Amino acid sequence: MAVEMGPEMMFEFLYNLPGQFEGCLKMDFSKVSGLKKEYANIVVTGLGGSAIGGDILRCYCQSRLRIPMVVNRDYVLPRFVGPDSLVLAVSYSGNTEETLSAYEDAREKGASIIAFTTGGKLAEMAALDSNPVITIPGGLVPRAATGYLFAPLVLVLERLGLVSGASEDLKETVTVLTQLREEIEPGREEDSNRARFIASQLYQRIPVIWGCSSTSEVAAMRWKGQINENAKAPAYFNVFPELNHNEIVGFEVPEDLVKKLAVIILRDPDDHGRITKRIEITKDILQGKVSSVAEVEARGNSFLAKTYSLIYVGDYASVYLAELYGINPTPVQVIDYLKARMAE
Ligand code: F6R
Repeated sequence: MAVEMGPEMMFEFLYNLPGQFEGCLKMDFSKVSGLKKEYANIVVTGLGGSAIGGDILRCYCQSRLRIPMVVNRDYVLPRFVGPDSLVLAVSYSGNTEETLSAYEDAREKGASIIAFTTGGKLAEMAALDSNPVITIPGGLVPRAATGYLFAPLVLVLERLGLVSGASEDLKETVTVLTQLREEIEPGREEDSNRARFIASQLYQRIPVIWGCSSTSEVAAMRWKGQINENAKAPAYFNVFPELNHNEIVGFEVPEDLVKKLAVIILRDPDDHGRITKRIEITKDILQGKVSSVAEVEARGNSFLAKTYSLIYVGDYASVYLAELYGINPTPVQVIDYLKARMAE
């Protein structure tokens, strides 16, 4: 993915996110029909932009699936993986070494495997093993392909009868994102553009992104990653209620550095009532200590629409932040350098 892409490319990718979901809704998943319909557990294995779709799936399935699902970001799979496991191996490039190694581990453990990729070695290995390969469109950077790296996973589970209602939820996601992008696209100035406003709050500050367990946790994780990769800036995330039991104590010293923190809280109308109370108390505790505390509210009804509405604001904000720093959001030279050094 060493294609040289200018800053405007990322806005184009963002604009087309609802189109990715529409494309996935038209994809043909008949090649998974031969697979078993019952499993003891499901593992999604991938890294970075190819793993976060697994986290969205994990949160989505938390209240829907009767079997455990975990996301694996490593060379090896957990010990419990075996012939009763379904392993979804996800790599946009198809060449990420950790994912290829985890794929081999899944094969050795006798798991059912489905590969999701644009091609590369993963597609080759899966084809050689006669495992289904769900081919997703290339030409993007992985983090900009978040629709393609999530929707096919949930649609495959729907096709296998493991979850229901995903297609409908994705349709709602398309509607919500299409409306939302009109409010946060580059033509809208800061006073009427939430994503630009957030970027201005994060500029020259250290972003601290907080979500809530089971609702906005994965969106918070995504915000952090997008600020890192697009704006090339540090960012940290955590979730309520856990952060009330440790992180919240750590805002005393060094005072001048704590003043440089900009906190963003991602909110969902379905947050547990006690969490809502925790957020209000937490804001009181932070008063006067950090640079700012801003909130972003999820839109839509379904978990997927709400999650992606939060993600969308964060994605745009991270690119506006890159703009403020005069940074090209698209290339990730440090990741490319690391991968090249690892291949030596
Ligand atoms: C995101 C990004 C990385 C990759 C990760 C894994 O844009 O560049 O987070 O997603 O390095 O690579 P793939 O997705 O090709 O398996």
